Amino acid sequence: MEKWGGRPDILVACIGSGSIALGLFHEFIKDEDVRLIGVEAAGFGLDSGKHVATLTRGDVDLYHGAMRNLLQDEEGQILGPHSIGVGYVGPEVSFLKETGWAEFHTATDEAAVAAYLRLCHLEGIFPALEASHALAFLEKLCPTLPNGTKVVVNISVVEIKMLPLYSNTN
Ligand SMILES: Cc1ncc(COP(=O)(O)O)c(C=O)c1O
Repeated sequence: MEKWGGRPDILVACIGSGSIALGLFHEFIKDEDVRLIGVEAAGFGLDSGKHVATLTRGDVDLYHGAMRNLLQDEEGQILGPHSIGVGYVGPEVSFLKETGWAEFHTATDEAAVAAYLRLCHLEGIFPALEASHALAFLEKLCPTLPNGTKVVVNISVVEIKMLPLYSNTN
């Protein structure tokens, strides 16, 4: 806000359980001038059964004492997730969906990896694969926006450690 002299237009964050997104969104919830966008992992595709699109494809149910979106089978058992999430989101995130105060989209594994490589090449920044889902959604989002739209993307990064090339155990 200091840099731009005002509020951003759009905030984008990946959604696994939702805590990273809430950290970015919370000051702007119910702010009608700021669009909040969460991006879930569509894995191999929403119809593949190999995804963790909890808000897009999950049901609202009770788990660990809270109403929230879950990926579950017909008997209510939590489904094993594929990709970045655990298969359920925090209740606050489900509330953002129910109220329409935030919107939720998905990005596939393939799109996330492509976005990961793009940021590495263009900026020398190594985003986490989770955050790469948010980056991937920019490919769809940005062409729809007028020039000058202020978009903030929450990026968690990979810590690069210098590993020894070999170790001498003698
Ligand atoms: C590096 C990194 N970025 C983003 C996320 C997604 O965060 P959340 O589960 O809070 O939505 C995770 C979750 O494990 C993570 O490890």
